[in-house]
Amino acid sequence: MLKLGLLAALTAAAISPFANAVSSQTYTWKNVKIGGGGGFVPGIVFNPTEKGLAYARTDIGGAYKLNADNSWTPLLDFADDSTWNYWGVDALATDPVTPSRLYLATGMYTNSWDPNNGQILISADYGKTFTASKLPFKIGGNMPGRGLGERLAVDPNSNGIIFFGARSGKGLWKSTNFGVTWTQVTSLPSTGTYIADPSDTSGYNSDKIGISWVTFDQTSGKAGTATPRIFVGVANKGSTSIYVTNNGGTSWTAVPGQITNYIPHKGVLSPSEKALYVSYSDGAGPFDGGAGAVYRYDITAGTWKDITPVSGGDLYFGFGGLAVDMQKPGTIMVAALNSWWPEGQIFRSTNSGATWTPFWEWAPSGYPNMAKHYSYSNSLAPWLGPNYVDVTPGNKQIGWMMEALVIDPFDSNHWLYGTGATIYGGRDLLKWDTVRNVSLNAWADGLEETAVLNLISPPSGPSLLSAVGDIGGFSHTSLGTAPKTGYTNPTWSTTVDIDFAGLKPATIVRIGNGDSSSGKQVALSYDSGATWSPHYGAADNVSGGKVAISADAATVLWSTNTNGVQVSTNSATFSNVPSLPSGAIVASDKKTAGIFYGASGSTFYVSTDSGKTFAAAKGSLGASAYPAKIVLNPGVTGDVWVSTDKGLFHSTNSGATFAAVAGVTQAWAIALGAPAKTGGYPAVFAGANIGGVGYYRSDDAGVSWVKINDAAHGFASVGGNCLTADPRVYGRYVDLSSFASGICGLKRRV
Ligand SMILES: *[C@@H]1O[C@H](CO)[C@@H](O)[C@H](O)[C@H]1NC(C)=O
Ligand SMILES: *[C@@H]1O[C@H](CO)[C@@H](O)[C@H](O)[C@H]1NC(C)=O
Repeated sequence: MLKLGLLAALTAAAISPFANAVSSQTYTWKNVKIGGGGGFVPGIVFNPTEKGLAYARTDIGGAYKLNADNSWTPLLDFADDSTWNYWGVDALATDPVTPSRLYLATGMYTNSWDPNNGQILISADYGKTFTASKLPFKIGGNMPGRGLGERLAVDPNSNGIIFFGARSGKGLWKSTNFGVTWTQVTSLPSTGTYIADPSDTSGYNSDKIGISWVTFDQTSGKAGTATPRIFVGVANKGSTSIYVTNNGGTSWTAVPGQITNYIPHKGVLSPSEKALYVSYSDGAGPFDGGAGAVYRYDITAGTWKDITPVSGGDLYFGFGGLAVDMQKPGTIMVAALNSWWPEGQIFRSTNSGATWTPFWEWAPSGYPNMAKHYSYSNSLAPWLGPNYVDVTPGNKQIGWMMEALVIDPFDSNHWLYGTGATIYGGRDLLKWDTVRNVSLNAWADGLEETAVLNLISPPSGPSLLSAVGDIGGFSHTSLGTAPKTGYTNPTWSTTVDIDFAGLKPATIVRIGNGDSSSGKQVALSYDSGATWSPHYGAADNVSGGKVAISADAATVLWSTNTNGVQVSTNSATFSNVPSLPSGAIVASDKKTAGIFYGASGSTFYVSTDSGKTFAAAKGSLGASAYPAKIVLNPGVTGDVWVSTDKGLFHSTNSGATFAAVAGVTQAWAIALGAPAKTGGYPAVFAGANIGGVGYYRSDDAGVSWVKINDAAHGFASVGGNCLTADPRVYGRYVDLSSFASGICGLKRRV
């Protein structure tokens, strides 16, 4: 869910310091390489006209363009704090007439989590630059049903015409001027009634999924005039869900003979067959699906044929991704949306669905012998391997949440599909039909959409350790090389926080969510994160929150999600710390053992007895309601910085007095890194509002600030991002991009 890019500035240049002022500096930004993916890839679209042109969209990590070497280039890194919802991409269309034109339907949520309406982002230069056409409703790139599609489509005969199918009952919309303005197509009889969970009071699962997809039949028209025949799939269950127009959208009729018991996920045209292929599932996805179907509609004859690859007890999933080979009419593939056990499944037919072959089967002698008709490589993202949280060795290689399945329209050997974790693909697909064995590769290099929840850069060992949502997190022994493995023993789906001991920095503590084996949600490492052991003093299944470890590594202070603040010394059973309020943020002094800090509201707390008791400090955090982060100068006991919704506060006396840093009106992630001059004050980094929201560095303890991000590097919501700074290399700074809502300790009020 929470995912995004991880970025590191490796060099600094062009310093222009003006005392007491905000200047800017050019940083070189690079992704810390995790190796690709790390989250759901709901859509991949090839351009039908320009060879090799393809794009992928993600639910919270923006959109990407495919490179010839199978890697991906991000297109939306420019989105900043004011345009963070650009990173939720609910639909994507690449223009078949003018391939340089690209359209993205963006917006993160249709409920209150995203206050902003959606927009169509329009590019005329393959996604290098965009203009935004604001829509009068919300778009939900991270909502249920985000793998349906594509619900945005360009007329292949008259490319100024674009249709977009909205969520939330807003219906079908049309532009006749390349996406600049839009009007609703009120003649479509249905706007989609399906709701995943009407009882969800958050609004997330209780909104209408809306229109599923829009598919032009280019064979019905001719170049230069609007295509007459268009099919539209609607997220209805139990009623008509596929409509057709034969007059460019003026009037619509239900396609006769269709099934109505499932939701149509994909509607893909095979032009030379004059056929529409439809995959159906009994839910909107992406996590669900216990039944479904695949149908072929013969447009000339007006007849439907059930071509579902499996039946009876073998049909325990719905269908998602559906691909048509444009070079080989009748060759089609379809993915099980979610076959959770033992493995995902993909089917291929070379005779229009009359017969199918599966990607794996119980063979040669039946269960439990599995014949896998592929060779598997995760060399670009080795963490997907045996230690990966969702993978028992050898299982679930193929993936889950498989809504994006495509065959290169110019190359029958080249295929790609998206999963809940990455993109897989290969370039020898025709071997499926000959030797019945193809290569399957993790090919999401450059598409980094992890949700990073915290970062540390200890003074020794690997320069970066991450706490990551859904995929656990990593000890990054090299920032440019994909990690071989995530954290193990315990393996959690999500690591929520991490800290190192100031005087024994090889000792690391992390806390998490979602361990079903040991039950412990606290873990310790004594070798810089290479190996771990559960903290047996933690109660089973207490999880989440914030964690800090004392300078001497003896004491762990844990502000849990639901069980208040707790402390443990020498691995003893955690005991309650009633003197620090529930939900407080916490930090340890990096120089003196036994000293901890906490903050809640505008009150700053200090403990000098290894976290057993806390007392409110005399100094206050002004009018702050939401403290975000406490960081310590590693060289000076009690030299502390606190970021809050009201600014940045600095104390040199353990909170006895605080100075509000002039000019900083809001601050979120903060970090101290190596000083500009040996022996000088550490460089202070902040995601903050200092006459503008962005990322800043101060080399003089907050007197003057240098803006270090630029127009090409917005990193979306500053309130959702984490940040750490290297104590060993001046100016090296690591930022983690994520989206806005309650991570990194801050409940951001937007
Ligand atoms: C396909 O090739 C891989 C790699 O050589 C092999 O491990 C696998 O068993 C083969 N599958 C079948 C069904 O022979
Ligand atoms: C902890 O959670 C796991 C997985 O849900 C469960 O099997 C186990 O019984 C729980 N333990 C306790 C003590 O609640």
